[in-house]
Amino acid sequence: MRFSEDFLSELRSRADIEEIIGKYTEIRHRGSRTPVCLCPFHTEKTPSFVVYRDTQSYYCFGCGAGGDVITFIRNIERLDYTEAVRFLCERTGMNMPTDPVDDEYARLRRRCYEANREAARFFHSALFSEKGKQAREYLERRQLTAETIKHFGLGFAPDSWDSLLKHLKAKGFSDVELVSFDLAKRTQKGNTIDAFRNRLMFPIIDLRGNVIAFGGRVLDDSKPKYLNTSDTVVYKKSQGLYALNFAKNDSSRRLILCEGYMDVIAMHQAGFTTAVAGLGTAFTNEQISLLSRYCDELVLAFDSDEAGVKATQRALKMLSNSTMKLRVLHLAGGKDPDEIIKTYGKERMRAIIEGAVNDTEFALLQAKKKYDTTVEDGKLGYLNEAVMLLADINNAIERDLYISRLATELNVARDSILSQVNKASKNKAKIRQRQEFDKILKEAVGDDGGRNPNPQRRQFLKAAKAEEMLLALLMKNPDYFRKLSGKLSADIFVTDYNKRIFEGFEQRITDGRSLELSVLSEDNGNEEMGYLAYLLALSGNVANTVEQCEECIKVLLQEKNRKKIPEIGQMSDDEFRAMFEQIRKNTNKKDV
Ligand code: CTP
Ligand code: MN
Repeated sequence: MRFSEDFLSELRSRADIEEIIGKYTEIRHRGSRTPVCLCPFHTEKTPSFVVYRDTQSYYCFGCGAGGDVITFIRNIERLDYTEAVRFLCERTGMNMPTDPVDDEYARLRRRCYEANREAARFFHSALFSEKGKQAREYLERRQLTAETIKHFGLGFAPDSWDSLLKHLKAKGFSDVELVSFDLAKRTQKGNTIDAFRNRLMFPIIDLRGNVIAFGGRVLDDSKPKYLNTSDTVVYKKSQGLYALNFAKNDSSRRLILCEGYMDVIAMHQAGFTTAVAGLGTAFTNEQISLLSRYCDELVLAFDSDEAGVKATQRALKMLSNSTMKLRVLHLAGGKDPDEIIKTYGKERMRAIIEGAVNDTEFALLQAKKKYDTTVEDGKLGYLNEAVMLLADINNAIERDLYISRLATELNVARDSILSQVNKASKNKAKIRQRQEFDKILKEAVGDDGGRNPNPQRRQFLKAAKAEEMLLALLMKNPDYFRKLSGKLSADIFVTDYNKRIFEGFEQRITDGRSLELSVLSEDNGNEEMGYLAYLLALSGNVANTVEQCEECIKVLLQEKNRKKIPEIGQMSDDEFRAMFEQIRKNTNKKDV
């Protein structure tokens, strides 16, 4: 919804960006003009996230995240624009203005929660009805207690085309609603049918206790084994974790990440109530940031099969910059935590968790598996890999410990391993420096690794840089629009991306609206907000003068000529069509 500028500027002054960001990450050099902190949107060890107090904006030089306080809340709390404003209102004690469009969206979400809750109730009671006999027997075979079934709200979707549909329609939900909530599907013939049929149902519950989605498992070996709700108004599966609603309540700050629903349930039933799992997607960065909010130590408990080991290695790589302590379960003698518990009991599981190796030990074990260390060749192969792994460890004591262990294990002189490790670590440092240097070099010539969203930036680098500076100066000094009247127009822009942004600015100035970042965030998505914050960050140390703008305009006029656009009359049909398409695309973009 659109908020008034008065309202937004009041919100901005009450919701101080430094204070708000400080609730999510520790701010260093507090009180300085540009405090810095570790970026809460990506994992890093040295701070590259800068808060700009004067423009009330932030920009991360590591990952390119940026914007105003509303953009920040949108991304960190994963809210849409209006929800983020509401969130800040609640924080600062302001009243939220109401709007019919906003109310409609909120109503749809409420309906979705209601439908899901009602569906969960329906599935749960179906499980205990006559129709649920097979499903109950299945759960019994898998040794789930009545208490566990109730705790997780498990249910059964009957073997029928429309039993849930009938039930929910009788409660006042429409076909259209149920299809959009992914509880029903539209067939090719245009009929509506239940999305889940003849499946064991796992409701997925968010941190506030709302049922937001379902996973459904077959009762036999048919395929697909699981069906999951696709994304809806209340659900994004790449962002969620199964059972986090229970696990987050534990004070240990240690979470155990399993592969599937059944593992989590078996773990909880055995008393390991900090187990969670992804929701049928590969591990995501969004899940990492969610996990790091609730734990300091993460135990990976993926299946022991090849796919599980691969998933573990992939996850460890993604987690390599995280501050969470990492450990990996060694699940010998069973495929997944569920089977370990069933075959060997929970005491064995407890011992496995206590004996979980850390990430280095896991990598060493995996490397060792590849070689036969009883023969010289194999020993050497393993040693070489181990040396490379140990060269990555920054902590000298820790590194020493592994070297000693390796020396004993392979019966090799400790000093010779040590010198190999030192050599490798120097080499790696050199490579890192080289990469660092390349990165700086690239940034200097304008290739910032694709973070700048302007697709024509590289082609017209000089012009793009002048445009960026000009836009930043205008954002900070909207009065320059008047001062530069006659010289300033969209025509002088060389790249389409910046031109579009300029036109947006121009429109706002004509409408008598402001160019404050906090007001711009209602018209612009994440990408543009990051870009605008980046422009402000770049212009931080430049004098704010009209002459600066005139300099930029001069550069643009020179560069414009170099772009050389053929006259329409001289264009071939193909060229004309391409131009026409381009213009149409730009106009459409402007409309959204
Ligand atoms: N999964 C999925 N779709 C599939 C298979 C798996 O979404 N077709 C997801 C589910 O979230 C599942 C997880 O991947 O829980 C792990 O899969 P798997 O190990 O096959 O299932 P388990 O949870 O171990 O289930 P079970 O023990 O009942 O076979
Ligand atoms: Mn299993």
